[in-house]
Amino acid sequence: MTLLVAVSGWDPAPWRRALEALLPSHPIAILGEPFDRASIRYAVSWRHPPGALGALPNLEAIFSLGAGVDHVFADPALPDKPIVRIVDPDLTERMSEWVVMHALVHLRQLRRYERQQRERVWADDDEQPKAGDVQAGVLGLGVLGQDAAAKLKTLGFKVAGWSASPKSLPGIACFSGRDGLERLLMQTDILVVLLPLTEATRGIVNASLLAELRQGGPLGGPILISAGRGSLQVEADILAALDSGALKGASLDVFEREPLPRESRLWTHPAVYVSPHNAAVSSPRAIAAFVARQIEAYERGEPLVHLVDRRRGY
Ligand SMILES: NC(=O)c1ccc[n+]([C@@H]2O[C@H](COP(=O)([O-])OP(=O)(O)OC[C@H]3O[C@@H](n4cnc5c(N)ncnc54)[C@H](OP(=O)(O)O)[C@@H]3O)[C@@H](O)[C@H]2O)c1
Repeated sequence: MTLLVAVSGWDPAPWRRALEALLPSHPIAILGEPFDRASIRYAVSWRHPPGALGALPNLEAIFSLGAGVDHVFADPALPDKPIVRIVDPDLTERMSEWVVMHALVHLRQLRRYERQQRERVWADDDEQPKAGDVQAGVLGLGVLGQDAAAKLKTLGFKVAGWSASPKSLPGIACFSGRDGLERLLMQTDILVVLLPLTEATRGIVNASLLAELRQGGPLGGPILISAGRGSLQVEADILAALDSGALKGASLDVFEREPLPRESRLWTHPAVYVSPHNAAVSSPRAIAAFVARQIEAYERGEPLVHLVDRRRGY
């Protein structure tokens, strides 16, 4: 009945504490400390080292400690066991806060007014578009994309979204497939990227995608808001589009290399907002509670939910 905490780059101690408190009848083992491999029934993973989940003869399920599971699939020796990903309102609400904040930051030209304040300039010469003049396009209409799309809609933005399979969502123009992507991009002023990283989506935010965004528009050019995974984007293409004016601004939470290297021009580009991959970081307590609820339900004989489709990679 033991649960293995298999994380790299994170301190395992808060996870041990949170899981012990919630699942007192399950011993907790930590990867890197001695443990009995045969005792492990569940593993919780954040970037576990490749091969670390092999040779666990009684492993029944793997829980990703993030909503994205590309880090789990990075293990070429991943055992063929069900993979459960985090779906938690705590995380979803945080992501939507971040997306909405950045949509408004660009809509209301926060950087300009911060500069004006620093320079004690009183200038009110621009016409301000309102949210209802602006078309947002959300790539990825999953748990996070749907919530962000609905909240952008509530603020008055016109909202469209794109997913792998066709969808019908109230008040959101839904697109799918390659043609659907083109149709969405050509009308989009603010592009929100909330896709998972898979072989089909790697590098999708590149020069040719950015070139398809609506030019001009009420914001003077398209805006990119990206919080899926860094490897969805080609940062050299984003910088080139910002430099040429094909992109008016960007808010980036995820990067091809994390931490973002100090020499990256994204840090200092005047049209870019950088955040350290924390658009939606849930507390170990909230995520551990999700894992504990799932394990308790599973042990009552209920099926695991939010299972990852290995074929699709998300
Ligand atoms: N920055 C952060 O702090 C942070 C935090 C949490 C998560 N994330 C990232 O956010 C991602 C999305 O999370 P989620 O919970 O919303 O995932 P999700 O529920 O699995 O939704 C993924 C969405 O992307 C669509 N999609 C996948 N592959 C596609 C493709 N090739 N073409 C078109 N659409 C495609 C899916 O289409 P269908 O609906 O048709 O399947 C679905 O709508 C995660 O994978 C993770 O990388 C980032």
